[in-house]
Amino acid sequence: MQRFSIAVIPGDGVGQEVVPAALRVLEAIGPRYDASFDLKAFDWGADYYFHHGRMMPADALEQLRPMDAILLGAVGDPQIPDHITLNGLLLPIRRAFDQFANVRPAILYDGVPSPLARPGAIDMVVVRENTEGEYAQVGGFVYHHQPEEVAIQTAVFTRRGIDRVVRFAFELARKRNKQRRVTSITKSNAQGFGMVLWDRAFQAVASEYPDIETESLLVDAAAMNFIRRPESFDVVVASNLFGDILSDVSAILTGSIGLAPSANLDPTRRFPSMFEPVHGSAPGIAGRGIVNPLASILSAGMMLEHLGLEEAGRSVERAVAGVLAEGKFKTPDLGGTSHTNEVTSAVIDRIAG
Ligand code: NAI
Ligand code: MG
Repeated sequence: MQRFSIAVIPGDGVGQEVVPAALRVLEAIGPRYDASFDLKAFDWGADYYFHHGRMMPADALEQLRPMDAILLGAVGDPQIPDHITLNGLLLPIRRAFDQFANVRPAILYDGVPSPLARPGAIDMVVVRENTEGEYAQVGGFVYHHQPEEVAIQTAVFTRRGIDRVVRFAFELARKRNKQRRVTSITKSNAQGFGMVLWDRAFQAVASEYPDIETESLLVDAAAMNFIRRPESFDVVVASNLFGDILSDVSAILTGSIGLAPSANLDPTRRFPSMFEPVHGSAPGIAGRGIVNPLASILSAGMMLEHLGLEEAGRSVERAVAGVLAEGKFKTPDLGGTSHTNEVTSAVIDRIAG
């Protein structure tokens, strides 16, 4: 029996509903693959902030460090400015544990309508640089809160940071063995320093992978081409900000953000990696039992793969694909009327069946 220690942070809003759904799936799948999960729940997030004035305790990272993986719901509350929630929990974890590759697959499953008139066979992964770039939080205010206030926000691009995420993308294209193509996204025509370094690094790493086709797009053209020819993308690698935006586009092209999983990986495995749906805390639908749990369940499937339980991870994805293809249990975001728990049970039934 393999045992894994998993830190569980449901967080805010619908995180409190989708993480329990993912845990039900883990509980069902563990015994089938001779694995068990020691879950450690952390009550960090908005409620913790209301009581303690911070999103997580000062020693939070020390508490997480020994764990094998982290399963996160979402953070964000309408009563707290979003930059506090994000910079108080999510971004520090990503940075402290060097989770530099944010892997966001987008697959158009059978039975799921895409908003596109002519959707192709969409099966792409956005690899987003996750520790630096535009989210490095370098900058400051001058004349703070005065009428002539100035804000400076700097993006940080390092050769090491670009090289490693680009290399990760090429390795992933090889491993997926689908179109064997990597598309790099920048805006190097307008941003002549960081993005130019990115282009140069991409070219250099690409030369190590002659078996993989390459493409470089400016982010505005990429946004257009995601919609015009989504089937042409395989692995897409982008900076923190561009990857964040484009992966919401790829999520909706494949039917709903409620289907979009993600992994924040430290590929070197020095630290625990973190698995979370792409979506946020969705306060508008929280607490009503109608949130789509599949993004969170698929994220748990990615966690299984990362832990070396590849077959278990694949069986989670097959079960989700089966439920979607059957079309009997769908939450409202997919045009259905099912409750979160019914959809979760349908996934578990398939795993058991
Ligand atoms: P959101 O992803 O929470 O919601 C966007 C839209 O998608 C809403 O209409 C929502 O109802 C819907 N939606 C999201 N997940 C769904 C699901 N699983 N099933 C069905 N419908 C779903 O993004 P929004 O509204 O921009 O942000 C809400 C809060 O979440 C903010 O406080 C924001 O900062 C935070 N946030 C947190 C993230 C994280 O923890 N990783 C990521 C994105 C936003
Ligand atoms: Mg986002």
